[in-house]
Amino acid sequence: MEKIIDEKVQGNTLTLTSKPDNARKLYIESYGCAMNFSDSEIVASILTEQGYNTTNKLEEADLVLVNTCSIRDKAEQTVRKRLEKYNAVKRNDNPKMKVGVLGCMAERLKEKFLEEEKIVDLVVGPDAYKDIPNLLKEVEEGRDAVNVILSKEETYGDISPVRLGGNGITAFVSITRGCDNMCTFCVVPFTRGRERSRDPHSILNEINDLAQQGYKEITLLGQNVDSYLWYGGGLKKDFKNASEMQKATATNFAQLLDLAATAQPKMRIRFSTSNPQDMGEDVLHVVAKHKNICNHIHLPVQSGSSRILKKMNRQHTREEYMQLIDKINEIIPGCAISQDMIIGFPTETEKDHEDTKSLMEYVKYSFGYMYKYSERPGTMAGRKLEDDVPEEVKSRRLTEIVDLQQKHSALRTAEFLGKTVTVLIEKESKKNKNEWSGRTEHNNVAVFPKKNYKPGDFVNVKITDCTTATLIGEAVGYS
Ligand code: SAH
Ligand code: F3S
Repeated sequence: MEKIIDEKVQGNTLTLTSKPDNARKLYIESYGCAMNFSDSEIVASILTEQGYNTTNKLEEADLVLVNTCSIRDKAEQTVRKRLEKYNAVKRNDNPKMKVGVLGCMAERLKEKFLEEEKIVDLVVGPDAYKDIPNLLKEVEEGRDAVNVILSKEETYGDISPVRLGGNGITAFVSITRGCDNMCTFCVVPFTRGRERSRDPHSILNEINDLAQQGYKEITLLGQNVDSYLWYGGGLKKDFKNASEMQKATATNFAQLLDLAATAQPKMRIRFSTSNPQDMGEDVLHVVAKHKNICNHIHLPVQSGSSRILKKMNRQHTREEYMQLIDKINEIIPGCAISQDMIIGFPTETEKDHEDTKSLMEYVKYSFGYMYKYSERPGTMAGRKLEDDVPEEVKSRRLTEIVDLQQKHSALRTAEFLGKTVTVLIEKESKKNKNEWSGRTEHNNVAVFPKKNYKPGDFVNVKITDCTTATLIGEAVGYS
């Protein structure tokens, strides 16, 4: 997903919920993708109604919840280390605290979690968050509390998330849950279940609310936003045929995007993640039509080799992906495009690796997220394919891919030298307290002297310098 912040802490809660009558304290932290971060806001909302306010001090928490990621082994190891930390705090400072595991690891490991990690009192999968109040009662009565039932309908559309860790300027809005694609390397279809779309009314209500609260940018979130399809809920297979589905007043992703951009023309809109096999031209035309939809498409490809793509069960070839890139460039000139790559998928040869590099040369991505293949238990690749690319070969190939991306990122940021771009100010620059930091529509970070501007302002910035990832400039007026 955009802002894939895999394996890093998304940050403890910065914005704390505080209902005056709430006596108990919740510490919640999230790992993994933006969807987890967004889910934690739903969980915090549910628990606010149960008498909990959030805290960022483990020592004073009654309940500690960790929203976990299973996408790669390393992500799971990070969570295990955090559990050790909670254990130490519980032993030394806070014996009363209860610990719950949420998210993909909870779904993958289920009851096993309680056996493997003695610190854990509560295990809740991504579709069972509404059951947390009941599960907490079980915990209080000294019983194990596990709910990992996946749902075909749950979208949490009726829950208004409390905005944690937020800056009051940018927010995530989830539009689909789960994934039906079954890429052979990926654990998500197993941990997040079947794909389902959220009612467009509840999405638009949430966006309108955010606008009213002063938010300036939203990111529509889904594992695969392009397959968003609302036709009254339920699964696609519940309809006997396509025409029956059409009859029900369906809304697809292009239409949803159009509705959102039209409803709030001053709100900047991003979306993530797009899947090449499902992204239609209609989406590109909607992006081109609306000034407030950012010209940036995160379009993971995973490999530049058609042979490997087939083994990954990605439903497109290298050539088809290149044609889609051509279409993007034609319909949205200057659109930033970013990637996810998996290096060292089983059977990957030097030739396949060279194909990945030549695809990157063709696209010249603005940025990307690159990972060594990590075998996941239960996936098709995990069961059927030997993880046969030696570790040192994976490492060397990853370095080559990362270096190439660095080169392209540098090239892409340099394109903005001398140009004036619109920046939404998000916060003070980490490096210089006299400068603001924000992002352009192409998702480049830009820094510039503060003058009289403030966070939440859209400012025109003349770019005078750049690094591979950051634009440096001077504000020349409001946008
Ligand atoms: N549909 C989501 C995918 C989420 S996983 C999206 O498109 O964002 C995010 C990324 O993690 C994937 O695009 C892939 O590059 C990487 N990934 C997934 N499973 C992996 C595995 N087993 N090993 C290494 N990287 C993996
Ligand atoms: Fe995973 Fe492929 Fe879905 S990467 S989340 S199975 S689109």
